[in-house]
Amino acid sequence: MKWILRNQTILPRGETAVDIDDRGYQFGDGIYEVVRLYGGEPFLMRPHLDRLRRSAHELGMRADLDNGVLEENFRQLAEKEGVSTGILYMQVTRGVYQRVQEFPPADLPVQLTAYAKPMERPAEALRQGVAVWLVPDIRWLRCDIKSLNLIPNVMARQQAKEHNCLEALQHRGDMVTEGAFSNVFLVSGGKVRTHPEGNLILSGITRAHVLSLCEQAKISVDERAFSVNELLSADEVFITSTSNEVMPVVRVGDAVIGTGEPGPVTRNLQGLYEESFGMVTKN
Ligand SMILES: Cc1ncc(COP(=O)(O)O)c(C=O)c1O
Repeated sequence: MKWILRNQTILPRGETAVDIDDRGYQFGDGIYEVVRLYGGEPFLMRPHLDRLRRSAHELGMRADLDNGVLEENFRQLAEKEGVSTGILYMQVTRGVYQRVQEFPPADLPVQLTAYAKPMERPAEALRQGVAVWLVPDIRWLRCDIKSLNLIPNVMARQQAKEHNCLEALQHRGDMVTEGAFSNVFLVSGGKVRTHPEGNLILSGITRAHVLSLCEQAKISVDERAFSVNELLSADEVFITSTSNEVMPVVRVGDAVIGTGEPGPVTRNLQGLYEESFGMVTKN
């Protein structure tokens, strides 16, 4: 990664030092988004920008970010970096101000930072499915905000890694909420089920897209939380995220899910998902 977008200017990475007084650095006082690039084109950019604005609003941050300007800047960034299959990362912090806990003056400009980098689709994992690890959900009660405060998610993902799993699935009491960096779905009797939107999960852009694909394919959906036992006895499980798309889960801890191979509903949704971004086959 050679280039960084800082506010509205693309600069060489070496010229974009972070000020110690940036509130993102001091407090994690900011928000972020990750957008997929397929063939150099951002996928589902608008809903990501809408969610960015919503996160800002919920945190009382200035949200005077213009969609058209942002889209143009991000396109230029991806082009300048020469990224085809990859991601755009963007974050907005509450700005640079002497370290006080309360909000700085309302007219302080927010700091937008973004970069583009290559990231292949996880082709083998998408074919074979992955293992996930269960952890208690120790996060705050505003998981609907895509905040830079990711300590519990980082801790959960590290535990998953230590158990050779791709992702950590979190549960509050007995109920499964979502992954550390993904939403989780189960399939039982041909029906798809996932945690409802609200303060306990992030409203994933991929989640919403997959729900619309279910509707299109006439797969019935139940947006209702499920228990750990229901998860373990499901026919199929999959997780969704911008980077990992529709990722089959074939093992949860020591428990094998279904036949131990990605199931037909998951495969169907994977195919529809690929069609929807135009399946860039050159990779
Ligand atoms: C906690 C959490 N849930 C769900 C998701 C999936 O969201 P999306 O599909 O918008 O990438 C993410 C993505 O990073 C996440 O961090």
